Amino acid sequence: MAEWIHVAAVSDCPPGTAIERLAGERIIAIANIEGTYHALDGLCAHQGGPLGQGSLCGHTLTCPWHGWEYDATSGQHRTAPTVRQDTFQIEERDGDLFVCLEAPLDPSAERS
Ligand code: FES
Repeated sequence: MAEWIHVAAVSDCPPGTAIERLAGERIIAIANIEGTYHALDGLCAHQGGPLGQGSLCGHTLTCPWHGWEYDATSGQHRTAPTVRQDTFQIEERDGDLFVCLEAPLDPSAERS
């Protein structure tokens, strides 16, 4: 059975923002895009920068260290096709956010 980890209160991540959280031993970035939450690996593929501390503009999450840009909904780097952050299931339950790290989302799968 999948383990869901409490990572934040909904109020911690208003629409148009991203936050950094620890889920188990993994650092994740959570982005709120127009009320829908997305969770992805929080360590930038470049040099491990803190993606959750980056800026969110639309779907684009920009690493604060050197400006690499990712699609926060898929983890895909904006210009390098071979670079993609793991993404994770995230759910809102009664004002709190929970993530499941056990099965990173397949970016080719449809999302509801
Ligand atoms: S560590 Fe993220 S752009 Fe360099």
